[in-house]
Amino acid sequence: MIQFKNVSKIYENGTKALSNINISIGRGEFVFLVGASGAGKSTAIKLILKEIEPSKGTIIVDRKDITKLRKKEIPYYRRNIGVVFQDFRLLPDKTIYENVAFAMEIVEAREKDIKKRVPSILAMVGLEDNANSYPHQLSGGEQQRATLARAMVNNPSILVADEPTGNLDPDTAIDIMRIINMINHRGTTVIMATHASEIVNAMKKRVITFKKGVVIRDQEKGGYINEA
Ligand SMILES: Nc1ncnc2c1ncn2[C@@H]1O[C@H](COP(=O)(O)OP(=O)(O)OP(=O)(O)O)[C@@H](O)[C@H]1O
Ligand SMILES: [Mg+2]
Repeated sequence: MIQFKNVSKIYENGTKALSNINISIGRGEFVFLVGASGAGKSTAIKLILKEIEPSKGTIIVDRKDITKLRKKEIPYYRRNIGVVFQDFRLLPDKTIYENVAFAMEIVEAREKDIKKRVPSILAMVGLEDNANSYPHQLSGGEQQRATLARAMVNNPSILVADEPTGNLDPDTAIDIMRIINMINHRGTTVIMATHASEIVNAMKKRVITFKKGVVIRDQEKGGYINEA
């Protein structure tokens, strides 16, 4: 589903963020990306999202070399990937319903489909009673549920999460992990970068550990190495 082949990333200022990375992630897998700050996790995620280009190597997603996508193909490519970040990035002037609906409007979904789909995805994340609230009226955990609903509303086959629990207290973080796990069980491939060692250790999923731009460990049901 996702393959990094000999991927390196050197930023414009000369920083070597990734050096000759090889990773292969299958359809439906759940993979944690871990490692110390600056190890290259977010860089790997930005490469998948095609926010940045590799300096070397190829990245295959769904059998396509995404480094070769034409500009006009990129929006279509991104539709297949749901994204969640540490900061929730909800639109403050729209209700939760409108925030989620907006993701469907962007892809020109039909009004009829939006009216059907948004309530059901809000129910999936347990926000059926908060549809008419604005983001500032929700707790952090509720806001992150809303971003998960927004990420999944167009049924992407991949969910990418960069520190999704970074701003949440431990109990709320576990709540969010339950939802991400459920999303994975429904067939979505999940790639999650995190520093949350307790979560990584509890979930018993595949763990890819980065250190200074290199993969130093890739283990099924792996644990979190401190100071990796
Ligand atoms: N836009 C950029 N320009 C230059 N250097 C960058 C840029 N973005 C990241 N870097 C550098 O690339 C390296 C990898 O950064 P990256 O953000 O991928 O790390 P990370 O593993 O996500 O860290 P954290 O756990 O702190 O989020 C770091 O040395 C960082 O300073
Ligand atoms: Mg990061």
